[in-house]
Amino acid sequence: MKYFTVLPLFLGLPSIAMAATPPARISLCSNGCPSPAAAVGAAYFMTNQPSGNYLVSATVEPDGTLALYEAVYTEGTGGHGVRPDAIGPLDALFSQGSIGVSAAQRFVANVNAGSNTVTVFAVNTTNPAQLNVIGKPISSGGEFPTSLAINKAGNRLCVVNGGRVSGVSCYTFAAGAGLTPLSNTIRSLNLDQTTPPTGPSNTPSQVIFSPDEKQLIVSVKSGYLAVWNISPDGSLSTNFQTVTGGILPFSLSYVPGKNAIIASDPGVGYDIFNMDTNTAVSLPIAGQTLTCWSVFSGESGNFYMIDVGVSTITEVEVTSSLGSSIVKQYTLGHDGPIDTAVATVNNKDFMYSLAANATGITVLSVNGPGQAKISQRVNISGPAQAANLALDSSHLQGMATFIGK
Ligand SMILES: *[C@@H]1O[C@H](CO)[C@@H](O)[C@H](O)[C@H]1NC(C)=O
Ligand SMILES: *[C@@H]1O[C@H](CO)[C@@H](O)[C@H](O)[C@H]1NC(C)=O
Ligand SMILES: *[C@@H]1O[C@H](CO)[C@@H](O)[C@H](O)[C@H]1NC(C)=O
Repeated sequence: MKYFTVLPLFLGLPSIAMAATPPARISLCSNGCPSPAAAVGAAYFMTNQPSGNYLVSATVEPDGTLALYEAVYTEGTGGHGVRPDAIGPLDALFSQGSIGVSAAQRFVANVNAGSNTVTVFAVNTTNPAQLNVIGKPISSGGEFPTSLAINKAGNRLCVVNGGRVSGVSCYTFAAGAGLTPLSNTIRSLNLDQTTPPTGPSNTPSQVIFSPDEKQLIVSVKSGYLAVWNISPDGSLSTNFQTVTGGILPFSLSYVPGKNAIIASDPGVGYDIFNMDTNTAVSLPIAGQTLTCWSVFSGESGNFYMIDVGVSTITEVEVTSSLGSSIVKQYTLGHDGPIDTAVATVNNKDFMYSLAANATGITVLSVNGPGQAKISQRVNISGPAQAANLALDSSHLQGMATFIGK
């Protein structure tokens, strides 16, 4: 009844639905921008705001430190899943891989969970922190996209959706043209979900290609991986196969040289899936609460498991027989670390960890096994506020890097 009395008032107002278009670009270095000539690359994360999603860039300096550069409008909107547990509002998308980079084709892609789209950007040839949108955002083929994967050649991209219409969808990429939907790749995960989804359990976490690019793999936080076969033309098998294991398998990385995947798992610590035998083991990290993200460093040869709940990074060694052990743990105060990326800068590895709870980025130098050290803390909230860029810790998501010019 209430709505009927309010409605006539709105009908009388002109253009009530016309919202102002967010600015295309917002500088975050008005007090002096880092020199594009000196930068060796860039790092990117997103605001994931429902009012308008921005991709934020920072230059990577020759010593591995970051300098914030600018925010570019994705022409899409961010989203936030519903979580009835007491953990708090961090990790809006329940995912790893919401931003991807192709070094081969010089582009960056991100998901817009609120508008069910994917946006692609060209990386400027002289300034990798400067991105230009290619075309228009394209439909994600479902609802609430949360993670994407790009193949090695950079000519294929697949996305996973975790909302009411859940599942994967793939595209071709070509410079200039951007993304084009690929036939026979919209495949359902058959999750009984809503938009936005309620999680973190029963939501997809990450989508990846197998190293031979013959399989597309999605981790689902109901204790399984969903695996589709990819045909040479890029189309996907109609149904997925299930590899059960873990409690809430989250981030996915292949163990180098092995047909095995290591997954962070906030239900226990981490899981190792043997993809030859379709079996899995779950390994505990004592005291962990939300080990949801992970990265690999070639310099140390180890994996780093990131726990937002207790702000800890756990370094894990995996042996050639797929045994594993904890090498060291690093505590990060009240960072609330989420998505993290590793980049090699002048033969040294650096970890760029989105410190969601501190609204910043923590940079760690790897320095070999068991030797990681915090080398920089970047404040995001101060520069964003000064530039009128809307962001908050509960929405921040994604981290990816481009190294080179
Ligand atoms: C690339 O970046 C340079 C340096 O910031 C700038 O002068 C140039 O206009 C940019 N190119 C494009 C296509 O935006
Ligand atoms: C977030 O930061 C606040 C203030 O520093 C702290 O009290 C809280 O425990 C932190 N939360 C997480 C999840 O780290
Ligand atoms: C970031 O900078 C702002 C503005 O200078 C300040 O208020 C805030 O406390 C800083 N955040 C951290 C985590 O240091």
